[in-house]
Amino acid sequence: MDKYVIKGGSPLVGEVEIGGAKNAALAILTAALMTDEPVRVENIPDVSDINVLLEAIAVIGAQVDRIDRHAVVIDGKTIGSVSVDYEFIKKIRASYYLLGALLGKYKHAEVPLPGGCNIGSRPIDQHLKGFRALGATVNIRHGVIVASAENLHGAHIFLDMVSVGATINIMMAAALAHGNTIIENAAREPHVVDIANFLNSMGANIKGAGTDVIRIRGVEKLHKTTYAIVPDMIEAGTFMFAAAATCGDVLIKNVIPKHLEAMTAKLTEIGCEVQEFDDALRVIAKSRLGRTHVKTLPYPGFPTDMQPQISVALCLANGTSIVTESIFENRFKYCDELARMGALIKVEGNTAIIDGVDGFTGARVSAPDLRAGAALVIAGLAAEGITVVDDIIYILRGYEDFDQKLRGLGAEIERVEDERGIQKFRLRVG
Ligand code: EPZ
Repeated sequence: MDKYVIKGGSPLVGEVEIGGAKNAALAILTAALMTDEPVRVENIPDVSDINVLLEAIAVIGAQVDRIDRHAVVIDGKTIGSVSVDYEFIKKIRASYYLLGALLGKYKHAEVPLPGGCNIGSRPIDQHLKGFRALGATVNIRHGVIVASAENLHGAHIFLDMVSVGATINIMMAAALAHGNTIIENAAREPHVVDIANFLNSMGANIKGAGTDVIRIRGVEKLHKTTYAIVPDMIEAGTFMFAAAATCGDVLIKNVIPKHLEAMTAKLTEIGCEVQEFDDALRVIAKSRLGRTHVKTLPYPGFPTDMQPQISVALCLANGTSIVTESIFENRFKYCDELARMGALIKVEGNTAIIDGVDGFTGARVSAPDLRAGAALVIAGLAAEGITVVDDIIYILRGYEDFDQKLRGLGAEIERVEDERGIQKFRLRVG
């Protein structure tokens, strides 16, 4: 299993380019199936979650023509099966989007119930509630969700909690239903807006995305389009907090500053200077970071996908900080790994109490999930000495060329396959 090996202690300095948003691309590439015409999607991130989804889309019979790392043409006219019961598709949770897309287009879909993952149980009851409201019967048979409908009709749907996935999945199915659908308590994330814009570019009629009430007027069919994915606010945020934790000076390019306001506000609060440009942000951390309290919330609140990254920065701050995770029930597993590097964190339920320390020391740690894995890399970059991050397969799910981009900022980091690679790195960096 590949690992990152890092020699920490140098500030990140320079420029980094942000790629397309993984969580927007997963939904958009699935929605591309909803027409029988070719759809070109650009600025997709070259990460394993995307590549697994494209494999699944090809397996059910769609034409998938990968133009290059960041562009693909999908044509759904040759889809032969609405049953996606393949083991490998369980690797990615976002496979549940196939339900909304195939149910919307074919009025039938069979998709494995996504397993939980390392950050919580992650049920999809709200998705299924939405499909039923649109007129589908939904059953779970042998671990597979079977959804079908004579016809889908508009409905007024109240989500019991803000759910990105449910908002997107219901929006997809409703796009081709007869009549009008209203989704109340909808998620407002930028990638919800991106999928709505994408569907509208295919001829859908969706209004209100980005607010908590989304109105969808069903249309007969969708047509071809060319669309570029929005920049990844979580990849951008990860580099913002990497700059802060290493006392660096980083220009983060190809971003939408508006999407990053919650992160910018917190960085400013803890003493960083953040300069905003049209499509870039510069984060400068000249002195030791200050403490703060932060609670993760649905957008536009502080994102749960940035919780591990801000926690790492606060471990090095002057004073005691409190981080509250309000979205997922098990998203502090990385704290035990950080303790091995010298962090002083006490986790009580969904709250972490962090006493700032003067510095981390390098250690061997293991990535428990995607965002926590990225946060452990940040800790290694800030640590004195060598850090090895095992199980980086999680990180590769959502970060394209992560080590290359960090090396471009002056980091001493390498991706190695085995212990020999670690030894070679140690000999090289001394
Ligand atoms: C999306 O997950 C993202 N994944 C997650 O990013 C992100 O953390 C999350 O949104 C919140 O922003 C993708 O987009 C592929 P939710 P999703 O439905 O849609 C509960 C990453 O690192 N819930 O907004 O699954 C759920 O358990 C990943 O890129 C229900 O109870 O998240 C959670 O507590 C990690 N029933 C809360 O709602 C449901 O039917 C929010 O979940 C749906 C959700």
